[in-house]
Amino acid sequence: MQTVRELHGLRETIAGWRAEGLSIALVPTMGALHAGHMALIEAAKRPGTKVVASIFVNPMQFGAGEDLSRYPRREMADARMLADAGCDLLWLPSVETMYPDGFATTISVGGVSTPLEGASRPGHFDGVATVVAKLFAQVAPDAAYFGEKDFQQLAVIRRMAIDLNLPIEVIGVPTQRDDDGLALSSRNIYLDEDERVRAVALPRALGIAVRAIVRGEDTAQVLAEAATQLTAAGFQLDYITLVDAETLAADAAPDRPRRLLAAARMGQTRLIDNVPVE
Ligand code: PAF
Repeated sequence: MQTVRELHGLRETIAGWRAEGLSIALVPTMGALHAGHMALIEAAKRPGTKVVASIFVNPMQFGAGEDLSRYPRREMADARMLADAGCDLLWLPSVETMYPDGFATTISVGGVSTPLEGASRPGHFDGVATVVAKLFAQVAPDAAYFGEKDFQQLAVIRRMAIDLNLPIEVIGVPTQRDDDGLALSSRNIYLDEDERVRAVALPRALGIAVRAIVRGEDTAQVLAEAATQLTAAGFQLDYITLVDAETLAADAAPDRPRRLLAAARMGQTRLIDNVPVE
């Protein structure tokens, strides 16, 4: 696996691959890699395709008081994992490359960015959309892979790619989970032992709620019960809501694909998760 830190080196390698008729797949990450990221690499590995992973802890998507300074950084271990997984190139841009002096351009996606995480974390999706648009411009991939765990992020990036006519297929990969069901996340390492045990209430509450909704039980009642379960487990609930899986609108019609999304804080750690309602 090549590791590249300069834009000209990245462009040279990509141009060489393009000249050989190869396709390019991009897996954008912020590092602190786990099996969820490896599933993205696995999905991206296709015949005739070179896989590029990027690691950049993007300051623009962290709000004031969020965990930018303590976000886990472990470049060497991440590079080893990527090489072992069969990634072809690791792109490690500097802050200066991503945000040069005088940087003044923001990509802001309306609609799907607004509720849920957008409401709880103002400016977060502007940061995500801007950095992903830049990574798309730098790597010019044919396809890009994102985890469904960040379901709203995936919807925002899909919307951006459509709206900007980007010739990039945005592919969602199912959430990877620990044995007890907790969705894998780089932020799970913030949980202490006791919090980690109690955190399993989040996927459990989602699972129970989905089954009840599919059985036809009253959605408001089901969500209220899920909220009670989460609070009893020690979560501070931010939201639990049933949305249209494409528009993220709250008045999801039962004949449309739907998704149940939740965000809740366990101690100092904010966790998000979601499941399809089918
Ligand atoms: O999901 C992430 O790790 C980040 O939000 C992303 C997409 C790499 C943008 O910084």
